[in-house]
Amino acid sequence: MSFLEELKRRRTFAIIAHPDAGKTTLTEKLLLFGGAIQTAGAVKSNKIKKSTTSDFMEIEKQRGISVATSVMTFEYKNLKINILDTPGHKDFAEDTYRTLTAVDSVVLVVDCVKGVEEQTERLMEVCRMRDTPVIIFVNKMDRDGQNPFDLLDELESKLNIKVRPLTWPVNGGSDFKGVYHLLDKKLNFFKVNKTRVEDDILPIELNSQLLDEAVGAKDANQLREDVELIEGVYDEFDPQSYLKGEVAPVFFGSGVNNFGVMELLDTFCAISPNPISRQTDKRVVEPTENKLTGFVFKIHANIDPKHRDRIAFLRICSGQFERGKFYKHVRLGKDMRFASPFMFMADRKDVVEDGYPGDVIGLYDTGNFKIGDTLTEGEALQFTGIPSFSPEIFKEVINTDPMKSKQLEKGIQQLTEEGVAQLFTVPLGNRRIIGTVGELQFEVIQYRLLQEYGASCRFEAKSYTKACWLTSDDKQKLAEFIRLKHNQIAYDKDENPVFFAETDWILRMNEQNNPDITFHKTSEFKVTG
Ligand code: G4P
Repeated sequence: MSFLEELKRRRTFAIIAHPDAGKTTLTEKLLLFGGAIQTAGAVKSNKIKKSTTSDFMEIEKQRGISVATSVMTFEYKNLKINILDTPGHKDFAEDTYRTLTAVDSVVLVVDCVKGVEEQTERLMEVCRMRDTPVIIFVNKMDRDGQNPFDLLDELESKLNIKVRPLTWPVNGGSDFKGVYHLLDKKLNFFKVNKTRVEDDILPIELNSQLLDEAVGAKDANQLREDVELIEGVYDEFDPQSYLKGEVAPVFFGSGVNNFGVMELLDTFCAISPNPISRQTDKRVVEPTENKLTGFVFKIHANIDPKHRDRIAFLRICSGQFERGKFYKHVRLGKDMRFASPFMFMADRKDVVEDGYPGDVIGLYDTGNFKIGDTLTEGEALQFTGIPSFSPEIFKEVINTDPMKSKQLEKGIQQLTEEGVAQLFTVPLGNRRIIGTVGELQFEVIQYRLLQEYGASCRFEAKSYTKACWLTSDDKQKLAEFIRLKHNQIAYDKDENPVFFAETDWILRMNEQNNPDITFHKTSEFKVTG
């Protein structure tokens, strides 16, 4: 197959959801369709089930599973589809945000009973920042959920995106009869069946008597009314608006019953984008360019504590990746080759000879990579749009074993490079402050520092809730601000100044009083991705 053919058949996306909405179930059904797995139950949920944060076995298990399920690849209708896994637990949201930088589109799963939940809103904010195309799957239609029209209104208002249903449910809950495909004009009957991969589809016209026979006169009339309302209220579905991230097509179904999944998958295959062009600090890189470019969006370290190996996940943006060939690590200005690059195939990993735009390649790393690092065939460019997001919980690291300061320093450095949390340094006394989006990370860090580096520490809570990166065209004003506010200033890993604030209000006051200084909510302020 030619390079262009390989490129055109790639689809790389993430499934995002609030925990328990059905992400794992849907992923599994998609893999079943693709023949990548043979039986239900083969995909392990990577969620930490319990709310308790002290189950360390669970954390370890989670780390193992999340490597195995980081990328799942399957073939369907001659397309090569890469699903990038995103941790559902909110404390790992930052990992999810970064994964979203490596995909070309997203499928959002919403529970029809619970509607739009907190985590859904935050994940969608990131998609909206990047104009990522989104398809919505309303799951668990076999449960008594909200009225579908109300749900659509909620999706629009809370997720700040226009929606367009492409299927429509006939009833819901115990009386759920199926979904009507609004474009294909076909009725898909619902049957409880957890293993079936074929759907029971009847091509029925809305006005046909067959519809009454199939679902009963009352439901048939209700469906006709609903469809009339939909056609009146919603604009016709426009794939271009979807690709621009302006409108999200909506499907209804039941993942666990394998229902509505095929419509979703078929539409996804028909409309979702090929690998898209990507912004760098120098220029836009087109996937069709024949020279390799790619960036690291995830690093997994010390899976086996006996080996200090790390795995860097490289998203290929252009060109063909070849095993054993030298590539330039732009930040280090160093040529590197990879003897055993691998790809994940559902439940196993295989060494690969090559990879194409959209693919994610696992590279064994001995400490050369940081998140955001770029590989090229020589050109000095750096992909942008892989920012750090403002953490919400801040704690100072206090060393409790002075004999192990070096180990502590190294451990903190490596774990934060891996992206477990963000590290800020306060110049006075070289104090270390760790910022995260969830409490769980602190337990993970403390546990891993001890297990993997033999270092022990405790954390002292800080009252900050916001961190903003600072820039200004007026260098003097910035220096003056930093001097005045030195108690609230620290530096990130790249030595950019960051301002800590206790509350939104304090942050706003500082913004108002210092109009020459810009307060950025993410670390990337020069170019947006
Ligand atoms: P997540 O990855 O988004 O966290 O969700 P997951 O797929 O693990 O699904 C969460 C729970 O919802 C699971 O039940 C799953 O079986 C159930 N579920 C998924 N899709 C549907 C659906 O269409 N209808 C109904 N009624 N339930 C659905 P569980 O009890 O937590 O786990 P399990 O023991 O069933 O695996």
